[in-house]
Amino acid sequence: MHVDLNKAITELNAGHVVGIPTETVYGLAARIDFPKGIEAIFTTKQRPFFDPLIVHVHSAEQARTLVSQWPAAAIRLTERFWPGPLTIVLPKARHVSAMITSGLETVGLRCPNHPLALELLRELSAPLAAPSANRFGRTSPTTAHHVEDEFQGQVPVLDGGPCHVGIESTILAVNETESGTGLAILRKGSITAQDIQKALEGIAFQFVDASIGISAPGQIKHHYMPPIPLVFVRSELSEKEIAEKTSTALNSATSTVEGIELEKPSRTLSHGVRLELSEDPTQAARQLYARLRELSQAPADHIYFIHESFHTGEAWTGIMDRLERAAMIHLP
Ligand code: TXA
Ligand code: MG
Repeated sequence: MHVDLNKAITELNAGHVVGIPTETVYGLAARIDFPKGIEAIFTTKQRPFFDPLIVHVHSAEQARTLVSQWPAAAIRLTERFWPGPLTIVLPKARHVSAMITSGLETVGLRCPNHPLALELLRELSAPLAAPSANRFGRTSPTTAHHVEDEFQGQVPVLDGGPCHVGIESTILAVNETESGTGLAILRKGSITAQDIQKALEGIAFQFVDASIGISAPGQIKHHYMPPIPLVFVRSELSEKEIAEKTSTALNSATSTVEGIELEKPSRTLSHGVRLELSEDPTQAARQLYARLRELSQAPADHIYFIHESFHTGEAWTGIMDRLERAAMIHLP
């Protein structure tokens, strides 16, 4: 069901969930001060409670009310990139509920660069928690139609057109201690390490490895999966060889990975479709999830993506990260 801005506000103020547009992917939103709504996010998505939610705000001023620290790096980064696809993880304020942060002492904050989302956030008297509006582990939605499909029309959706960026925000943990500022990229996105470094000129900081000391729950390996197997191919193989090798690999694969049930095909694979993306990374990111959805409707039993030499470099890292996680099988 599509709803307009006023209806979306009414629904959210009644503690219900609403599908909302952002520039990255569509979100499944609820007010952070309505526990019933937050709970509905998890149940609607079939998302485990250990995976924390990002809180969406209309401004840096609003973000500051949700944290216990607002370091110089956060000031600079939000001035430079907000509204935009950068989520900042900082120590949370006491009143931010443990249900949102999965019991962590930090909260992820993001100001989406989408006019309708911003208008909605300004009209409400509370920020919105919103994960991507897909069932847990599945492909993220980049149109209102995708959201309707994902939840069989059970969720009201505010249609803001196709998403501009197409992959989820970069997530950056900002860890301010007496010994300095440590930054860890917890999820790659269209804002790259280089972009962050450039924005922080004059501010002392260090990039630290995300695996050290900073917990990044939800960053499980298998994610974004389409309903038919996606195969990530790094070697030169014919279509027939890809199908054969994939069948063999699937035979020995387990049926659930990290809690996500894999729908393994029962017969030997015979019909692959190739996932082709633009050679321009900005366009490719925009196409990625819609293509994956389209191709899983195609008369095919697997999708394959061929990694080519130009798919390297900073601008491709977010896209390759999603493809690697979405792939059930890797042919190195
Ligand atoms: O672009 C986006 O970020 C989209 C749109 C809707 O804003 N949202 C999104 O949310 O991708 P979601 O729930 O699909 O992914 C959020 C991820 C979590 O899985 C978790 O890894 C990380 O953000 N996260 C959230 N809060 C965190 C925290 N306090 N510490 C570490 N990681 C956190
Ligand atoms: Mg997601």
